Amino acid sequence: MRGKVVLITGSSVGIGRATAYEFARGGGRLIITYYRDREEGEKTLQRCRELGMEEGVLLYLNLMDNESILSFSREVIKRFKGIDILINNAGVLAWKSLREQSFEEIEAQVRTNLEGLIKLTKVLLPHVREMVINIGSGAGKMGFPELTTYCATKFGVRGFTQALAQEERGLKIVCVNPGMTATRMTGYRGEAPERVARIIYGVASGYIRAPSGSDVDVWDFL
Ligand SMILES: NC(=O)c1ccc[n+]([C@@H]2O[C@H](COP(=O)([O-])OP(=O)(O)OC[C@H]3O[C@@H](n4cnc5c(N)ncnc54)[C@H](OP(=O)(O)O)[C@@H]3O)[C@@H](O)[C@H]2O)c1
Repeated sequence: MRGKVVLITGSSVGIGRATAYEFARGGGRLIITYYRDREEGEKTLQRCRELGMEEGVLLYLNLMDNESILSFSREVIKRFKGIDILINNAGVLAWKSLREQSFEEIEAQVRTNLEGLIKLTKVLLPHVREMVINIGSGAGKMGFPELTTYCATKFGVRGFTQALAQEERGLKIVCVNPGMTATRMTGYRGEAPERVARIIYGVASGYIRAPSGSDVDVWDFL
């Protein structure tokens, strides 16, 4: 992974941050993004430097905002020319019954997890050289109560992955599905994010074999 340009959305905290650390150890050139938590993003960037990252930058990205997607993408291409691996990781979850979800909560999940992921991929696709890894979920493989909208977005991410893999034969497009992982999203319950990150890195490095369009279910490797 030395010298590879790797863009990880939502890498200020959680699984994205742990994934950035894996690629930093491998000497990658990293693009780390934050949305609300610049301070945590700065900490991630600093730690990546300590771990051996070759080059890195922290950029603001709001996947709910078209202008942010476009200006972020322009900045990435200006600085790095192209991207070897795009990891669509950013996501949000409103853990409550549909009856209790507000329009704002529904919109935040659909626009961040699915619409923004599709738009960012669309804009960056001509500049991606090797691989797109979409972070799905176990909730993208079966329905769970109190995760209705979230499940809908993650089923969508898997459909997007399968269809795009057929369009873009020159790229590898894979969906990595974590189970419950101990991050802010789950109140820090579940598997360590570092274990999920190692699997994402395994897919990127080819150590874990994953044909284009396929799912990699994290629980199969734990
Ligand atoms: N944790 C789990 O159990 C679990 C299980 C399966 C799948 N996943 C998936 O794994 C991915 C990472 O989740 P996580 O558990 O690491 O969650 P997390 O700790 O809450 O981190 C979410 C990341 O997404 C960013 N983000 C949120 N809204 C955004 C927006 N509108 N635009 C751009 N970035 C935004 C956050 O940025 P700021 O913090 O800077 O605002 C943060 O960096 C998500 O796609 C999630 O659905 C998680």
